[in-house]
Amino acid sequence: MTALDLELLRKTAGQGTPETRSAAYSLDRMTTLQLAKRTVIFTVDAAGIASLVDAARKDIPGLTSNQMFQSVANHNPDTFWAITKRDRFNIGKPTGEGFLAVLPLTHEGTRRLIDGRLDTCNPEMCFVARQSERPAGIYVWAIHAKGCIAAAIPLVLQKFSTPLYRGVNIYSRPVTKEGLRVLEPLGFTAGAHYDGLFAPHLQMFDRTNDLPVVETIPQDSVTVEVVRSMDEMARVIAIRGAVYMAEQRCPFEEEFDGNDFSATHLICHKDGEPVGCIRIRYFADFAKLERLAVRHEGRGGGLAGRILDAAIDLCRKKGYSVLYAHSQRRLLRVWEQRGFRRMGARDLVFSDFDYVEVKLETEKHPQSITLSDDPYVIIRPEGRWDTPGILERSAGRGVCPAATGR
Ligand SMILES: CC(C)(COP(=O)(O)OP(=O)(O)OC[C@H]1O[C@@H](n2cnc3c(N)ncnc32)[C@H](O)[C@@H]1OP(=O)(O)O)[C@@H](O)C(=O)NCCC(=O)NCCS
Repeated sequence: MTALDLELLRKTAGQGTPETRSAAYSLDRMTTLQLAKRTVIFTVDAAGIASLVDAARKDIPGLTSNQMFQSVANHNPDTFWAITKRDRFNIGKPTGEGFLAVLPLTHEGTRRLIDGRLDTCNPEMCFVARQSERPAGIYVWAIHAKGCIAAAIPLVLQKFSTPLYRGVNIYSRPVTKEGLRVLEPLGFTAGAHYDGLFAPHLQMFDRTNDLPVVETIPQDSVTVEVVRSMDEMARVIAIRGAVYMAEQRCPFEEEFDGNDFSATHLICHKDGEPVGCIRIRYFADFAKLERLAVRHEGRGGGLAGRILDAAIDLCRKKGYSVLYAHSQRRLLRVWEQRGFRRMGARDLVFSDFDYVEVKLETEKHPQSITLSDDPYVIIRPEGRWDTPGILERSAGRGVCPAATGR
């Protein structure tokens, strides 16, 4: 969904061969000041979005509805940027002449963009990252920037260079032959990849090397890990004791129901303090997520979402594509935000709360563990299948005399 002045954009980004252009004028190298001289970018309200999208409709047939742009901006205000010439900008009555809209996508949203399952005209909000949430990919959703305001496109994209977005790849779908080269001067190249998937019809601005050196990265203080020790299990028990037994008055025998030793547990730490957990149990055709808990002092900051993302990822790597859970009826939204959907009317009640069945139908991870994998990979610690484990290092010791019966 693109309409803009290609020549102008080229001039803005610089001239030369594609090689020299991408090296010398790529998005991350252009000076914002040069571009900012003549244009201004700003956010607008619902009416502002409607008038800009209506104007764009003349140039872009099949453009997404005004309401959809507004819903996405409601969900994440950093998605819709109006553009105008600096000399026409009036803060008292800011009016745009063009716009650029993006979809900051979650992990599952980015997967779906690449494999074609994301409905980019009517995206489900569960696949759009919220304002303070780091997206897994950024999709250039629509551009309407004709004439000299096209020069502001790099300005908008530079909004996605803050620490929250650094290193996140930007994707676009050129719909016309001309559109194919629209973003090329900024560093976009044909073909897009994510999480082992590849889409030849998309363009991608690869920013994986744009991650700041380790010392300057603000350390992500949140971790979600597979429980591997008794100490970590004690932390899980403490969290569930506080959340379920103390808050929800769940009897001990019901909370610790005899299934804890036949499950995988994930523990979430924030600033080194255990704050949340989840339990996963495995069946032939599906994995069941349960006992999701975040201590009340850690709530409202997206930790449940982080824990669910980690659990979903682990299950997909183990080869599961169907994930099942019982959601407390009042907390359905927590699950729906991660793509789970209600299954039917087999509602249930236990431990004094009412539950509904929810299911996520996803795809197994492209690198999920199978019998054809190296046997040393299969014996690596759960969830760390990309890194050599302690047992394969032990192979270097060879076979001991006891093994040969000597
Ligand atoms: C449910 C629980 C895990 C949510 O943890 P959290 O870290 O606060 O959740 P998040 O911040 O990731 O919220 C994700 C979304 O869930 C929804 N949500 C969270 N708590 C909610 C609540 N109490 N009621 C309704 N929706 C809620 C919100 O929509 C939120 O998104 P938004 O506010 O950005 O729109 C936490 O409140 C908890 O441990 N509760 C007690 C244990 C429990 O009942 N577990 C669930 C069993 S199904």
